[in-house]
Amino acid sequence: MSSSTAAGRLVILGTGGTIAGRAERASDNVSYTAGQVNVADLVSAVPALSASRFEVEQVAQVDSKDMGLSVWQLLVRRVAHHLRQPDISSVIVTHGTDTLEETAYLLQRLLQPIKPVVLTCAMRPASALVPDGPQNLIDAVAVAQQAQGGVSVVCAGQVHSALDVAKVHTYRLDAFDSGDAGALACVEEGRVRRFRDWPQGGAAPVDAGELERFLSVAALPRVELVTSHADSGGDMVRALVAQDAQRPVRGIVVAGTGNGTVHRDLKEALDDARARGVRVVLSSRCAHGRVVPHPGLAYDHSQGLSPVKARLALSLDLLGG
Ligand code: SIN
Repeated sequence: MSSSTAAGRLVILGTGGTIAGRAERASDNVSYTAGQVNVADLVSAVPALSASRFEVEQVAQVDSKDMGLSVWQLLVRRVAHHLRQPDISSVIVTHGTDTLEETAYLLQRLLQPIKPVVLTCAMRPASALVPDGPQNLIDAVAVAQQAQGGVSVVCAGQVHSALDVAKVHTYRLDAFDSGDAGALACVEEGRVRRFRDWPQGGAAPVDAGELERFLSVAALPRVELVTSHADSGGDMVRALVAQDAQRPVRGIVVAGTGNGTVHRDLKEALDDARARGVRVVLSSRCAHGRVVPHPGLAYDHSQGLSPVKARLALSLDLLGG
């Protein structure tokens, strides 16, 4: 299955998710198994895509809740490989919704692609009475053909940037949101209508050393995520730091309350952890907004990244030493 468009070839890489999920009954939208249908079948089942043919490749077949280093390494390698081909204009990745924002962040950070890389997904399995995957795929192809570069996410007619996107709903078809930044664009009948400037791929130079280290490590530096809440304590952090583990904790991201505040008992344990060399980064558990820096801030802040993206970012930072 390989052909070209006027603008260049498109590649669709499959990694699994609900878009490739199957349930026993068509009316069942929740107790299905993700990652069952291969990406070639997903694409050939969409009549609107039959005019163009695509190169498709099954990179993985996972429920994205189980996403981890080995699949990420393979995906980063395959995306980078295809982007290097002069006749390939863009890469589309089908992915589960649950950790899609982390993969999108990873691809943007490591590859800073000049060509478009578009992640898409579904909230209903392929076996559903009305699956949303086919339209999301059609929209992702439109974005791949009309976008300039960088990593974006297409879901329910909306286009989000890799840095801002977050899954915000457990069930709705439009499960993603970009918070204060807002969506980049929407897709209407195959046309991409922009709302704001497209974040450019290549805006920052690719850190070849970081990419190389990421691709060669057996495990990422361990960074854990803790949440500050009413009645928080420091026991969990103390237990993490005390662990004589094969993979000791190198960093902790705190999802703080409000503007990055932390319960005093948790803060005491975090201060001890920091004194023992553990990097502590502050984000906010609020769904919207970012930690607004001020002189009283207890720790480095996450530069607007959500807790899960900040966790990955810190782990990548720590790869450098
Ligand atoms: C997954 O993330 O792989 C399952 C859930 C989904 O794709 O919506």
